[in-house]
Amino acid sequence: MSSPIIAEQIQANIDEIPRIRWSHTPTPLEEWKAFRAKVGGPRILVKRDDTTGLAYGGNKARHFEFEMAHVKNQGFDTMINVNNFHSNQARVAAAGCVKAGIRYILVSQDEVDRTPQGNLLLVKLMGGEIHRVTADEDAMAYAEEIADQVRADGGKPYILNKDWFPEIMGTIGFVEAGLEIKSQIAALGVSKIHAWGLTGRSLPGLRLLAKNLGLDWKASMIKYSPTDTDQLRETMVRRSKQGAELMKLPVYLDPDDVEIIDGFHGGAYAAPTDAAFEAIHLVAQTEAVILDPNYTGKSMSALIARIRSGGFSEDDTVLFLHSGGLPQVFAFNEELAAWSPSSND
Ligand SMILES: Cc1ncc(COP(=O)(O)O)c(C=O)c1O
Repeated sequence: MSSPIIAEQIQANIDEIPRIRWSHTPTPLEEWKAFRAKVGGPRILVKRDDTTGLAYGGNKARHFEFEMAHVKNQGFDTMINVNNFHSNQARVAAAGCVKAGIRYILVSQDEVDRTPQGNLLLVKLMGGEIHRVTADEDAMAYAEEIADQVRADGGKPYILNKDWFPEIMGTIGFVEAGLEIKSQIAALGVSKIHAWGLTGRSLPGLRLLAKNLGLDWKASMIKYSPTDTDQLRETMVRRSKQGAELMKLPVYLDPDDVEIIDGFHGGAYAAPTDAAFEAIHLVAQTEAVILDPNYTGKSMSALIARIRSGGFSEDDTVLFLHSGGLPQVFAFNEELAAWSPSSND
């Protein structure tokens, strides 16, 4: 059955959406032969979105090309963002604000006693104004108070967490990343892949592209916190619908278009897991590529678990999405330095 829309038209539709370009794209697609030799299982192709640039990159560099244009075009001069100590998004938002010439205020929630490291340290380097609040405090109310003050001083504040657009900017960025992948795998003579990653916007973006073009791409999304799976599905469908409307795509996702995998988050967002630490060491020692403890280390631990349980055949091709997150390796320096394969026996 031929697809009702072609790749070139999808790219043209995306090109109509305002953006500020800074990502180093297309990112490379690598084959991990040494990793496969060690772990076994399917052919492994890796989309290196850790190399997108913009202050250590990651999937969010693509997302914020659209987000910062959206903010700038509405005349906002200050971005206020509420996010966690570990957040990569908080860092990339800071970078986007530097590039767009916008004041950036981060309300960093949780772990208030920890010395700024990783992402939070980078936000500071990029001139972000950081307010630290405990998990018990109402961070959104705090952000509203800051916004009132910015207004009183004559500014135009934008609270990122309250806007609809950040919900879907990642889906747009990854429909485009999917177009890159489509060409890159074609050059390898591959058409059928199983996309694997730990993302709520990016991975569904790949699946959304595949569904619209009728490509034989499966997708598995690993949960990074113990959120309700049904709710996650609903959110995914809603985002894909809004994204499809904006990109003028004929179809959006159904709840079961993406497999959702639980059991690898460690019980809370940013909880360290032995399996993720093992995955980080294994990839570093076979491919000299660094994964992060909160996202890509966990999705790789889920992939390794599935390979070890015989969940793939040798003819399968997995497309592992390296979505970045590198700075958080340094926020877990003590735990990672102390870890060894036997340290958890
Ligand atoms: C490294 C990394 N991977 C994956 C994700 C999830 O991205 P999204 O749900 O926006 O696709 C994030 C977001 O915080 C991230 O920082």
